[in-house]
Amino acid sequence: MRLDVVTIFPEYLEPLNVSLVGKARARGQLQVGVHDLRDWTYDRHNTVDDTPYGGGPGMVMKTEPWGDALDEILADGYEAGARGPVLVVPTPSGRPFTQELAVELSERPWLVFTPARYEGIDRRVIDEYATRMPVYEVSIGDYVLAGGEAAVLVVTEAVARLLPGVLGNAESHRDDSFAPGAMANLLEGPVHTKPPVWRGRGIPEVLLSGHHGKIARWRRDEALRRTTAHRPDLIERTAPAAFDKKDREMLSILGWAPDPEGERSGRFWRRVEDVEE
Ligand code: ADE
Repeated sequence: MRLDVVTIFPEYLEPLNVSLVGKARARGQLQVGVHDLRDWTYDRHNTVDDTPYGGGPGMVMKTEPWGDALDEILADGYEAGARGPVLVVPTPSGRPFTQELAVELSERPWLVFTPARYEGIDRRVIDEYATRMPVYEVSIGDYVLAGGEAAVLVVTEAVARLLPGVLGNAESHRDDSFAPGAMANLLEGPVHTKPPVWRGRGIPEVLLSGHHGKIARWRRDEALRRTTAHRPDLIERTAPAAFDKKDREMLSILGWAPDPEGERSGRFWRRVEDVEE
């Protein structure tokens, strides 16, 4: 896979040299180009922003540097279609970045990122490139960062670990929380390693039992416990058929019951207090 990032802070992308992404680069599984947007400015001040039409606070990133930068980068190897590039535009007004989207992006050969500063990039730039390639405007969460660079690091790491051979063990994605097609999207439960006792704290007995069936059940129960506590929305929208009898027993213990209106509302489970209201 090839990645290009155009930014006014190339040094912000230094982490792409380390850890998983860095190793994938060193092994040749990933080619990364980080480009300074100011290389495509021609005035004395290397201006990349200007005041917004229509007024309002902040500055808007100008069309010309982005257009010239993207044209030059894309000219090197551009193809239309599935083998061509996609543009990934980090923005708090994008669609939520999810594991499903990470999988989709991991199947593309070439991602071009345009992290913006200020109030964002002049809309015409996005509209222009949308005529040449798929454009994904993505948000990494409901908060506003000072720029898209951190989002590029997030998306890159989520995508790179899915590339064949990058994580060593292909099995390791199947159990990811949020893996697409997982029966029910549950958060993963707690994990433990040696020593067996630390500051008086032991390991749950079942993990030492060697009984694979019981261990799997315990892990599933802990996943249910954690998901109900941290992400009740994931439980609510899970169709009852995704849970087996033992899951349902555990959900009942945790205070959850099937919602009789589920088929109609898409909210299949409720906390028992809610049911009794
Ligand atoms: N740029 C600023 N905030 C962002 C967010 N939440 N996601 C992606 N890009 C951003």
